[in-house]
Order: sequence, then structure tokens, then C-alpha cells
Amino acid sequence: DLSLDQQLRALVRDVPDFPKPGILFRDLSPLMRDPRAWRLVVEGLAAKVESHRPELIVGIEARGFLVGNALAFAMDRGFVPVRKPGKLPGPVEAIDYSLEYGSDRLEIQEDALAGAPRVLIIDDLLATGGTAAACASLVEKAGGVVCGYGFVAELTELSGRNRLQKNLPIEALISY
Ligand code: PRP
Ligand code: HPA
Repeated sequence: DLSLDQQLRALVRDVPDFPKPGILFRDLSPLMRDPRAWRLVVEGLAAKVESHRPELIVGIEARGFLVGNALAFAMDRGFVPVRKPGKLPGPVEAIDYSLEYGSDRLEIQEDALAGAPRVLIIDDLLATGGTAAACASLVEKAGGVVCGYGFVAELTELSGRNRLQKNLPIEALISY
């Protein structure tokens, strides 16, 4: 019998040179396509983060929505989206940042974290940590209290953990 870790790893597809030359992309789509594996992912992550006592789950666009909203549902918590610029209606807080590839600004609705809830930041994957670090700053700007981070996968050689707040728990199901 394969361990849980081996079962999940077998469903991650490695795509060389995507989306740019030199990047080995870990594609989690096959994990989500397999209902049994995806249930193990969501329940496994829920078990790891429960002790951090999140009151709200914040998911980062786009793949952080898929993980974060599933987790919020499984844990019976509310979900709040952090989005790329210009997508959220009404007043927003924003933060600028730089990353491995792609976009450079995140937004959250100004009133989304009213009452200073404990917030768990969720994304599919931790690479350089730039996105999650920016999201944490944004959550604080909007009045929330970050209680930890959760990822399905982590690329350890990029040392993303070092860019996140030192005293907060960082949970990842699969490490590369
Ligand atoms: C990817 C991934 C994380 C981020 C990780 O998102 O889903 O959000 O990059 O990289 P980092 O740790 O170096 O910041 P991407 O920008 O590709 O956007 P998408 O989810 O909309 O596809
Ligand atoms: N896979 C998925 N998302 C990512 C990656 C990766 O390898 N790197 C940065 N975001």
C-alpha cells in the first residue's frame, strides 16, 4: 500500500518549461480531477490547520480559490477572496509586490475582515513566497490577524518560507 504522500505525489504532473523556459511547473490539476485524492488533500490540510483556529479562510486567485473554498467548506468557515486588480466591486485595499512570474498587485474588499478575525491564508502552491507574503500584508492592512498559511505543495529550493512571518505556522501537504 502506497503512503498518502506517495499517492498524492503520483497525481502531480511535472511540466518542464511552463509557463516560461527553465520553470518546472508542478501541475495539481490531476489531483483535483480525482475525487478520492482531492478529498484526502482537503481533509489532510484541514487536519493540519485546525489547531491554528482560523475564523476565516482567505484564498488567493486563481488556484488558491479552488483549494481555499473547498477547505472553508470542509471546515465550516467563511471564505474571502484575494484577487488580481480590478476584479472586486466596491472599495478595496491593495498591495503591490513582485514574483517568480506573472501579476504584481492583489486586492481585498475593504470590509471583508471586519471584526479583526483570525485568518488562514491559503494557496495551491508556495514557490518564492512573494504572493503569500503580499497577501499577509494585505490581510493586516485590511484589519485581519494572520494565524497561519496552508498550501497543497511547496517548492523548498525557492525558500518561500523565509519570506513569510517567522512566528507563524506554515503547513504544506507535499514538499519538493
Ligand atoms: C501561482 C500560485 C501561487 C503563486 C506562487 O499563481 O498559484 O499563487 O504563483 O508563487 P510565489 O510563491 O513565487 O509567489 P499564478 O501567479 O500563476 O496565478 P494563478 O493562480 O492565477 O494561475
Ligand atoms: N506549479 C504551480 N504553480 C506555481 C509553480 C509551480 O511549479 N510555480 C509558481 N507557481
